[in-house]
Amino acid sequence: MSREIARRDFLKAAAAGAAGIAAASVLGGAGALAEDKPEAAKAFEGKKKFAGIGSVREITDDIVYIGVSDRRIQLFENVYPIPRGVAYNSYVLLDEKTVLFDTVDRSVTGQFFENLTAVLDGRDLDYLVVNHMEPDHSSAISEVLVRYPNATVVCTKAAALILNQFFACDISDRSILVDEGDTLKVGKHTLTFVMAPMVHWPEVMVSYDDVSGALFCADAFGSFGALNGNLFADEVDFEKDWLPDARRYYCNIVGKYGSQVQDVLKKAATVDIKILCPTHGPVWRENLGWILEKYSLWSSYTPEEKAVMVVYGSVYGGTESAANALAARISQGGIGDVAVYDVSKTHGSELIAEAFRCSHIVLASITYNMGIFTPMKNFLLDLEAHNLQNRCFAIIENGSWSPASGRLMKEIVERLQGCSIVGETVTILSSPDNGDSDALTALADAVTASVQNEESAAPEETEEAAGKKWVCKVCGYVYEGDELPEDYVCPVCGAGPDLFEEA
Ligand code: FEO
Repeated sequence: MSREIARRDFLKAAAAGAAGIAAASVLGGAGALAEDKPEAAKAFEGKKKFAGIGSVREITDDIVYIGVSDRRIQLFENVYPIPRGVAYNSYVLLDEKTVLFDTVDRSVTGQFFENLTAVLDGRDLDYLVVNHMEPDHSSAISEVLVRYPNATVVCTKAAALILNQFFACDISDRSILVDEGDTLKVGKHTLTFVMAPMVHWPEVMVSYDDVSGALFCADAFGSFGALNGNLFADEVDFEKDWLPDARRYYCNIVGKYGSQVQDVLKKAATVDIKILCPTHGPVWRENLGWILEKYSLWSSYTPEEKAVMVVYGSVYGGTESAANALAARISQGGIGDVAVYDVSKTHGSELIAEAFRCSHIVLASITYNMGIFTPMKNFLLDLEAHNLQNRCFAIIENGSWSPASGRLMKEIVERLQGCSIVGETVTILSSPDNGDSDALTALADAVTASVQNEESAAPEETEEAAGKKWVCKVCGYVYEGDELPEDYVCPVCGAGPDLFEEA
């Protein structure tokens, strides 16, 4: 058995959760789910009440939060450290019909089903709206469908496809596939579905409730961090306690897809949103403009602050010493917001978030194997992968015999859209000495003047191209030109030319 198949079986079993192996086999083949609905449902007869109690919060009279926080997880997506844990948000709308918006990660399904059962209070589930199919929100879908055999899934065509790919769960006989602007009346509430491709996967949509003004917005406006009873952003000191994790979440998870986020923000501006219900982190019911403004800055790659981050990669301390000397001179020049980071020690997700925050970035690296120090190179390639734009960089290089890191770092920076180099590269030979002082002071002065005198770099205006347009059917990216190249690859999702259609 191949490793891939083994993993697929594991995911299927995990999806079945408490339903166990029997339920997993029920879900194993296309079409099997419908035939075995009554039998599968019997497994849960009489289990309206579970051990424990629901931990839920009312958002409105008829919208209830039933999400669950995970404080045991160490790495989100097996990459990002989350010492404060994370919340997987899910919501129920109780109208003439009952509607569940998204589910949770497999790690917290026990509490999730207690919550769902408590909120439904004996009612059946009519609809499961899948705004986002990533497994941290969809791992419980299969079990929901077993427990509630009358529930209809409402999702995009792409979500249905990916659901089957991950969990071998064929919903073709019990789904409504929706597209831009489709609506679903569930009583006094009408839901409108708005496509949000690549925020953060291609199948993503958001759902708007016309009665409450709630937008169930998938990963958008989410944050790392477990919820601690407080659900709403206005119940916590968000700026002090949550903003760093919200920024780190956005920049690392969705940061690459700024133009797609901008598209959703434009759509959002056309409706009266009163509540933002993301799939992670606090719910927003007050001061929505504040978080929308943050998203506008982040997604347009506009620096959030006029600030300097100094990132150094050092082995024996010489480069570190030069970086500290530069930071001290920049601060002496009157820039208060300066932060120094050891690239070998600081997690890349922290550095990416800080790069999205700061207007200026100083790179100080040794030369290593005739190249850039590996952690620094990884950081720069990560910046490029996250599409960072519109920043000012300054460079310090170090080399004991053939300094090369400055030139190589500059080559990567020059690939970043809207980015420029400030001042002259300072070259250190092993350790900085008095002879390097003037060069460091000159570079600090150049950075300081740039921070003080320049307006925050604004995204470059792009002129409307006069040629034809082709739209990527996977993610919505638009290619403009005379002809779509035969070997074209979508820069957002990697789709080939066969997946583009002329607009
Ligand atoms: Fe929280 Fe893109 O999943």
